[in-house]
Amino acid sequence: MPPLDSGWVTLSLVCIAVVLLGHWVYVQCVAGPRKGLPIPPGPSGRWFLGTPFPKSRAPFKLAELTKKYGPVFSLRHGPTLFVIIGGHQAAMEIMEKEGAFLADRPRSIAAGETLSGGMRIITSRSGDRLRRLRRVLHAVMQPKVATTYEPIQLRHAKNMLLDILDDPESHQMHARRFAASTVMEITYGKATPTSYNDPEVIAVNRCIMRFGQAMAPRAYLVDTYPILQYVPGYLTQLRAWHQEELALFEGQLDIVRKKMAEGKARPCFATFLIEKQREYQISDKDMAYLAGGMFGAGSETTASAITIMIMAAALHPDAQATVQEELDRVVGWERLPSFADQEMLPRVTAFILETLRWRPVSVVGVAHRATKDIVWRDYVIPEGATVIGNLWAIANDLDVFPNPERFDLQRWLTAEGTLRDDLRFSAFGFGRRICPGQHIANRSIFMSVALILWAFRLSEDPQAPIDSFGFSDTVTQIADPFRVIFEPRMSEAQIRYLCHQMT
Ligand code: HEM
Repeated sequence: MPPLDSGWVTLSLVCIAVVLLGHWVYVQCVAGPRKGLPIPPGPSGRWFLGTPFPKSRAPFKLAELTKKYGPVFSLRHGPTLFVIIGGHQAAMEIMEKEGAFLADRPRSIAAGETLSGGMRIITSRSGDRLRRLRRVLHAVMQPKVATTYEPIQLRHAKNMLLDILDDPESHQMHARRFAASTVMEITYGKATPTSYNDPEVIAVNRCIMRFGQAMAPRAYLVDTYPILQYVPGYLTQLRAWHQEELALFEGQLDIVRKKMAEGKARPCFATFLIEKQREYQISDKDMAYLAGGMFGAGSETTASAITIMIMAAALHPDAQATVQEELDRVVGWERLPSFADQEMLPRVTAFILETLRWRPVSVVGVAHRATKDIVWRDYVIPEGATVIGNLWAIANDLDVFPNPERFDLQRWLTAEGTLRDDLRFSAFGFGRRICPGQHIANRSIFMSVALILWAFRLSEDPQAPIDSFGFSDTVTQIADPFRVIFEPRMSEAQIRYLCHQMT
């Protein structure tokens, strides 16, 4: 072994000392007291590393810490300060009322800047560009416009009903096909049903899977220690994957452009983007990613929600029967439920609200970043902190949802049986980053649930009990495969006839 040069040893020690000192100063700035107030309490952790952010089952582990430290607690992982909101009231007071200062996302070098080339809206930082992108989404997803997609949703939901009749075992695949077909038609005007085996969908799903993995907590050390981005080769794979997904999304938009030139394009989100590009001042790449990102944001989420509804109905026959009594009274058996019925179907809506609370599709939501010091009661959430609304903990807040494991429609209903207007659960996130697709998603879920519960009595197979906690450990929870008995509530011929009649 060659002798160590004393100059190198000294230089190395100086470098280490500078890094440690820099880390200490940074931590004092981010996590130290501000405005004379302490940061929210939390585990103290080790001097340099802090407390590791849970790598797996994060929402559930964080919910345990909420029980120990309270509805707002802090956790420092390396130089990053996390503030976790686990109480319903605290979420309203911080995530909603202070929403203007939480519109930012934490810096995401791996998934956001590199894999997405800074273009995926979900990882985009706040500012003028984000405002323009959100304006475009609002234009095509606001409630008034969302109603125009109802015929698309009804048509695909009827196909799902027929799919379940033909092959009830594959109900989870049918929900995915419904969601994929709906998103592809709204986004690209694709009229034919979309299957998860379509080559285009396989390619898009590959991108979604890579993004999900890169977004997982502590997937890339560079997000905790940004200096690593300068290590040669460290981000090469992510850069290559970015080029691959950009080409895919640009290709999808080019097909629509070509159809527009031939006069064959059907009006959809992509035609809107192409026509209004100048007005909304969006770049070609942003356009490709906005449209390309819709499948990732809106397909698996919607399919998961429908599957959880099916699980909830099978496990809670009393709640299911209450909803079916309402459907029989309002809709009857001579026609299918329609969107126009929703106002008269408060129990269906209560069933949807309770399902989204009982097993939220997104258990931990997406992280926000504080852009100024936020004072909450006797604490300060410092500027720069990563703020997470832990939907699992909020859904189980005993002060608002007593006996939270109980599936109880009555939580959402008044004594007169109408919907309560003083209670909400943030299944779609918070403040200025709230899910722009929620009005589309709610309509998809409503039509799916109304049709399925109108047509079938769902029950658990005693030979194959359902594990109601069997879900993937991913940003969007996906239920493990489970079996449900779908017993038609009328003759199969009648269901088929009504489904075909209005198509
Ligand atoms: C049941 C279905 C859905 C659920 C549970 C859901 C949930 C969420 C959540 C929790 C967020 C993060 C909000 C936050 O940062 O606080 C989000 C963001 C987003 N969602 Fe959804 N979503 C659903 C369906 C959809 C659909 C159908 C679309 C589009 C067609 C969509 C598009 C988006 C987009 C573009 C964002 C990023 C917004 C931003 O970062 O500014 N989502 N969604």
